[in-house]
Amino acid sequence: MDCGRRFGLLFWVLFISLLPFTFCLFNPVDNYLIDCGSAANVSVGNRVFMADDNLASKFLSTPQVIMADTNTSSLLSSSSNDSLLFKTARVFTGTSKYKFPIKAGRHWIRLYFFPFVFSVYNMSAANFSVSTQDFVLLRDLVGGKNPIIKEFSINLASDTLEVIFAPVNGSIAYVNAIEVISVPDILIEDVAILLEPSGNFQGLSNQAYETVARVNMGGPKVAPDNDPLTRSWVSDDSFIVDKNFASSFSNIAAVKYSADGAAPEIAPNVVYGTLAEMNSKDDPNSNFNVTWKFKVDPEFQYLVRFHFCDILSKSLHELYFNVYVDSWLVAGGLDLSVRLNNALSTPYYIDSVSGVIKNDSLLVSIGPANIANVYPNAILNGLEIMKMNNSVGSLSGKDSVFSFPDSNSSIKHVGVIVGVCVGAFVAALLVGILFILHKQRRKGMHQAPSKTWISISTAGAMSHTMGSKYSNGTITSAASNFGYRIPFATVQEATNNFDESWVIGIGGFGKVYKGVLNDGTKVAVKRGNPRSQQGLAEFQTEIEMLSQFRHRHLVSLIGYCDERNEMILIYEYMEQGTLKSHLYGSDFPSLSWKERLEICIGAARGLHYLHTGYAKPVIHRDVKSANILLDETLMAKVADFGLSKTGPEIDQTHVSTAVKGSFGYLDPEYFRRQQLTEKSDVYSFGVVLFEVLCARPVIDPTLPREMVNLAEWAMKWQKKGQLDQIIDSTLVGKIRATSLRKFGETAEKCLADYGVDRPSMGDVLWNLEYALQLQEAVIETDPEDNSTNMIGELSPQINNFNSIEAGVSATRFDIPGVDDLSGVSMSRVFSQLVKSEGR
Ligand SMILES: *[C@@H]1O[C@H](CO)[C@@H](O)[C@H](O)[C@H]1NC(C)=O
Ligand SMILES: *[C@@H]1O[C@H](CO)[C@@H](O)[C@H](O)[C@H]1NC(C)=O
Ligand SMILES: *[C@@H]1O[C@H](CO)[C@@H](O)[C@H](O)[C@H]1NC(C)=O
Ligand SMILES: *[C@@H]1O[C@H](CO)[C@@H](O)[C@H](O)[C@H]1NC(C)=O
Ligand SMILES: *[C@@H]1O[C@H](CO)[C@@H](O)[C@H](O)[C@H]1NC(C)=O
Ligand SMILES: *[C@@H]1O[C@H](CO)[C@@H](O)[C@H](O)[C@H]1NC(C)=O
Ligand SMILES: *[C@@H]1O[C@H](CO)[C@@H](O)[C@H](O)[C@H]1NC(C)=O
Ligand SMILES: *[C@@H]1O[C@H](CO)[C@@H](O)[C@H](O)[C@H]1NC(C)=O
Ligand SMILES: *[C@@H]1O[C@H](CO)[C@@H](O)[C@H](O)[C@H]1NC(C)=O
Repeated sequence: MDCGRRFGLLFWVLFISLLPFTFCLFNPVDNYLIDCGSAANVSVGNRVFMADDNLASKFLSTPQVIMADTNTSSLLSSSSNDSLLFKTARVFTGTSKYKFPIKAGRHWIRLYFFPFVFSVYNMSAANFSVSTQDFVLLRDLVGGKNPIIKEFSINLASDTLEVIFAPVNGSIAYVNAIEVISVPDILIEDVAILLEPSGNFQGLSNQAYETVARVNMGGPKVAPDNDPLTRSWVSDDSFIVDKNFASSFSNIAAVKYSADGAAPEIAPNVVYGTLAEMNSKDDPNSNFNVTWKFKVDPEFQYLVRFHFCDILSKSLHELYFNVYVDSWLVAGGLDLSVRLNNALSTPYYIDSVSGVIKNDSLLVSIGPANIANVYPNAILNGLEIMKMNNSVGSLSGKDSVFSFPDSNSSIKHVGVIVGVCVGAFVAALLVGILFILHKQRRKGMHQAPSKTWISISTAGAMSHTMGSKYSNGTITSAASNFGYRIPFATVQEATNNFDESWVIGIGGFGKVYKGVLNDGTKVAVKRGNPRSQQGLAEFQTEIEMLSQFRHRHLVSLIGYCDERNEMILIYEYMEQGTLKSHLYGSDFPSLSWKERLEICIGAARGLHYLHTGYAKPVIHRDVKSANILLDETLMAKVADFGLSKTGPEIDQTHVSTAVKGSFGYLDPEYFRRQQLTEKSDVYSFGVVLFEVLCARPVIDPTLPREMVNLAEWAMKWQKKGQLDQIIDSTLVGKIRATSLRKFGETAEKCLADYGVDRPSMGDVLWNLEYALQLQEAVIETDPEDNSTNMIGELSPQINNFNSIEAGVSATRFDIPGVDDLSGVSMSRVFSQLVKSEGR
């Protein structure tokens, strides 16, 4: 085992040190690498794909923000580094557009696709087209099963590049990662040999290309890191028609670039230094072709680029051979040493353009020139096949970009939306205006500066979604895309007519029922109390937020019902209930430290996404352990967006709402400055972290005064460096000291007095992942080491506290799902808070 690992390492060291370094020749002006849907930057070899957060989403406009991720273990174990990029994706339910500012010129566009099922989105069934502003790249691409990477090269005259994803009617589009990278001009010369009709092809530099194949003949695959233009080259094994006809040869060190031949950017020396040749050594009368076969789309022309470097010949004029594409002769009696001004071992390439291909295959062959007194042989070092755009500017299908439903004319797009949804839009607008007027009257026109709220754009996108759903009125098909209106009768049926014995929770909003839809899907049905103005606002906020935001770590909205003045929200069912119920006050078995860390990490991901996944940050405002739900695998999802958008300013409603919902979690700065930012969520999350560690309520008025407020109490111990004294008794001896230290520091930073001093949710996420690694390291590497690093026993006073707490909570938290403060004397708690604020 250990030996194997060492051998592996040695292999890598050898392999890497043997690789000749050819990169850093070209420094691209534009270099956008985006790992779509990812909360973290991802390194792939030497390159870093950026997280899909604020910066990346600046380039994108899309009707719905859906960040998907998967946990496909088969991918993770796959040998490719790209597999990291395939774990997350952006899903598009309508025409969506990336707009990259660029410097005019040729660019690579590389698109990564790996379909998986996320929430209600089955990417395997996706059907969509991709275009730039000028060229169709992919037409009706269907999800399929396997990961694919598509590479295009486009010459742009303008200073923006648009990459447009257009789902076919009723379907979705998706993408896992995007690269947009400048290409040096020398890569494509303007003229090539035209094979049919034979002559010259002029105008290569205006063409758009899709890479069909890029092959390192007789050599191994070459990773992007080892190519000056971050291209991938594959070995020729899967293309060669008859392996017995060819043999390989390699001498990378011999390759000498020269001004007469190909520049180093054209292909790296690892490509030119290996070749396939005719297997003719044993027979001086050999007369056969070595042929490779490639699958292509008919009805297109192809640019076929041959890479040669004669590292075989001992002297000049030793090797003469023929080169073919299908039955067309590209070069007859080719003597490389003549073309290269009497040089050997010098890289050289030939470009040829095929006629329109009628077949779905393209053959490339090399064979002897049959010249007297010349030993029959032929070589090929590398090969690229690139599909060329057709006369309407398409690389896929017969339509130009102008035939795309929504791609190019935003005017037409708006027209369609307005036409379809005018009713819904006006209705939404009216409700919005009434709501705003109402609120303004209530708070006497006191208006704090508002900066953090999504307003018009959300409303527009929302009405678009809902409007188009009304228009075709089918719930089942709609349900495969968004959250939708569900008839009251269906809800009644699902909950056994709101059977009281099916109630799984009671909150300020109303009751939560368990339900089963007629297709067997388990759901949680939240039925609002009869309409109040405030309830209605929260209801709308929640629908709006959850239709906009889809994420693995945010609870999904399946639908809603507003018939008969009802306010019913239907969510995915979270089998394991709230995080809070797993910490204290119920019979769930105690969570391990690792489980707790993973839950915190999941919740942090959800919040990070809320803060960064959209062009403007969305503040949850009610982060607490009762709003973090767990599915059957204990995966955490953040729930309850009812407060997310009530406004930045404090008014009466707002204070009481907040006090009801999340007392003990509230950001003190929010009270001081009446200003809400993402950092208020970070504060609340810090309190949750301590709650997870100590497994007690955040406010417990029955405890001695200094212990009532968990945040204060825990910070006191954290500052003394003795956090281990107050942890959940079931965790004693099970947390590695380094992991606890990291966790404590993270929570402490979250609770900083001033928002500016608190970390971002992304930083918190990173630190928690680190804490998990520190914990895991114990188990994997040095098990004997455990005991010495584990923290000591609890002090007796703390053990006491735990037992008191358990007794109290058992009597007080008897109704599941009740707000934190049920049964607690409000004035007492409030005075506590005011006192703590006074310091
Ligand atoms: C990703 O990397 C960029 C550039 O290095 C950095 O500015 C950004 O903060 C990183 N984002 C995350 C989520 O780590
Ligand atoms: C990814 O690439 C790095 C360096 O390029 C290499 O060390 C590592 O083994 C690769 N990982 C996989 C899974 O291929
Ligand atoms: C993620 O993958 C691991 C390993 O295959 C598995 O044990 C775990 O249950 C998966 N989690 C989810 C949420 O699918
Ligand atoms: C996803 O779609 C594919 C292709 O239509 C289908 O074979 C597969 O069963 C679907 N998976 C789920 C979970 O719906
Ligand atoms: C994808 O959409 C196109 C255009 O609507 C349609 O012709 C094609 O059959 C669809 N493909 C699949 C597999 O559904
Ligand atoms: C989209 O689908 C709806 C219903 O399935 C249909 O009424 C409409 O005509 C379709 N639109 C286009 C452009 O195909
Ligand atoms: C090699 O292939 C070309 C093109 O198909 C053909 O014309 C030629 O006869 C072949 N040569 C041999 C020796 O088979
Ligand atoms: C199509 O390809 C097959 C073999 O791949 C070949 O036999 C046939 O002649 C080709 N047809 C045309 C029209 O090129
Ligand atoms: C590809 O598109 C360019 C620009 O639109 C056009 O000039 C060229 O003729 C097209 N290529 C072919 C082979 O039609």
